[in-house]
Amino acid sequence: MSDTLRKTLISPSILTADFGNIGEAVRKLEKAKADYVHCDVMDGHFVPNLTFGSKFVSDLKKYTKLPLDVHLMISRPDLYIERFADAGADIITFHAEAECDTEETLALIRARNIKAGIALSPDTPVDVVEKYSDFADLVLLMSVYPGFGGQKFIEDSYSRARKIKDIIIRRGSKILLEIDGGVNFANARKIKDSGVDILVAGSAVFSSEDMGVAIRKLAEC
Ligand code: DX5
Ligand code: ZN
Repeated sequence: MSDTLRKTLISPSILTADFGNIGEAVRKLEKAKADYVHCDVMDGHFVPNLTFGSKFVSDLKKYTKLPLDVHLMISRPDLYIERFADAGADIITFHAEAECDTEETLALIRARNIKAGIALSPDTPVDVVEKYSDFADLVLLMSVYPGFGGQKFIEDSYSRARKIKDIIIRRGSKILLEIDGGVNFANARKIKDSGVDILVAGSAVFSSEDMGVAIRKLAEC
């Protein structure tokens, strides 16, 4: 299927949601036909911000049947895979820059029958994908420096996405390409044309009047 015909999957990030009313927020996302719920876990060390841990994810799980797309921005993801697996994560993604053995950590995730993702921060060379594509189910390309919602999309992320997609195609891999940070209605089409399968969108979805319309617009542009 060509890039233009393929429907893009949408993974709204709850980082911009009201954490005091998170059950309601994920229920609304389900009604709005999101494909996943993107959960940004930050440890205040790997990134200069703190969010939540596995307890929060397991509480979220009670409110939705949508798959939970857990993005770990933490220094030692290997120590927390079991907890996030027990919490009900459906995808667990951690960073190539984290302080752990990447291959072993991907294997820990897959051993729990969970999709394993590897994330690349904006300064990480895209060829790390060559190294790990056989051990991962998803590549998450950061299009902002991780840590905060509402940042501006970094322009060279289009060509980085295309390079990663080329590696995936060349290797005959089924790995999915997800992009995260600064996705909006103006750039979604160009991102999709760069070979991206899943768009993470925080502020674009949560600051819109109607999340259903916003998600459809992002998916069908
Ligand atoms: C940033 C997070 C993103 C971010 C997306 O570190 O990983 O998921 O919250 O939010 P927006 O779409 O507002 O850039
Ligand atoms: Zn994220």
